[in-house]
Amino acid sequence: MEQVDRHDVRARHWVAEAIRQVEADAHRSCDTHLHVFPLPAHWGVNLYLKDESVHPTGSLKHRLARSLFLYGLANGWIGPNTTIVEASSGSTAVSEAYFARLIGLPFIAVMPESTSPEKISLIEFYGGKCHLVTDPRTIYAESIRLATESGGHFMDQFTYAERATDWRGNNNIAESIFHQLAMEPHPEPTWIVVGAGTGGTSSTIGRYIRYRRYATRLAVVDPEGSAFYPSWVTGDASVTAPGSRIEGIGRPRVEPSFLPSVIDRMIQVPDALSIAAMRWVREVTGRDVGGSTGTNVAAAVQLLAEMRAAGEEGSVVTLICDGGERYRGTYDNDAWLRDQRLDIHPHLANLRAFLAS
Ligand SMILES: Cc1ncc(COP(=O)(O)O)c(C=O)c1O
Repeated sequence: MEQVDRHDVRARHWVAEAIRQVEADAHRSCDTHLHVFPLPAHWGVNLYLKDESVHPTGSLKHRLARSLFLYGLANGWIGPNTTIVEASSGSTAVSEAYFARLIGLPFIAVMPESTSPEKISLIEFYGGKCHLVTDPRTIYAESIRLATESGGHFMDQFTYAERATDWRGNNNIAESIFHQLAMEPHPEPTWIVVGAGTGGTSSTIGRYIRYRRYATRLAVVDPEGSAFYPSWVTGDASVTAPGSRIEGIGRPRVEPSFLPSVIDRMIQVPDALSIAAMRWVREVTGRDVGGSTGTNVAAAVQLLAEMRAAGEEGSVVTLICDGGERYRGTYDNDAWLRDQRLDIHPHLANLRAFLAS
């Protein structure tokens, strides 16, 4: 990794200017919306969708990418000649390519070759290069190799997501949610429901809830083929798994930024239900959302049904992680669903019945 020469005044000026540019991006941006999901008023429960798809780079990863660049710049790991390398399922690489271009650095994304073509072209649109690997498990070693060869810096979101994000505040996603709920009937939600890719979002929210002493509980969803749920249930962090079909969440190994101790409950969601819920959200709200949002909403519906069955009033918050336009070739494609042997129709019928019940 190229270390920024401590004595090189010009490099220090470059770092200061790069930090100003990244901070200015935040200053130009407004906060993401918190949408009300339409539920019958007499139910006494409310569901909210925190819309992270409206960030400049279209996903929740815009926040993380900004934090990782500030962390790398402030640590002296990124300088005027640093090639930025990242291992990603796609979303983080899109956002990091944007920030690399913002400060004038080359960017290489190491991703599984199964990554959606929409995400690959977005990374290239921001000037990034995509280095595709056949086996998703090799993205870490391949990133380290490319960073070493280019004398560059491996951003390593899976390790640093939980460290680079300020969990005490600084307008992190949790602080934004609680601020936007302040005038709602149930401003302190019963549950916040999120997925885990790096685990950074769930770690930030879990820590913030405890730091601010809220009674809110954190539920983390997991798709098929992921190591997070089995590891959380058994406490065994060495669990491995085949890998997830829901882009952005679920991992073949337990990632370093996954913090099981701040998670109150984990819910496994079948992939067919995730995709049914993705389409149902669009049907009910008109909002075009991605697969991991479907996973979130499916679990939120389960928790709402449990609250209603227990006669409990309250609110549940979950995330719109990115937009559906990134998955036209997969979750939105019936031929792809057939190939994957995913029958979403019974799940779609159940979700429609839930709202009609
Ligand atoms: C679309 C999408 N949803 C959810 C997540 C999970 O976020 P985190 O990495 O903070 O756990 C990711 C992460 O890459 C993602 O890309």
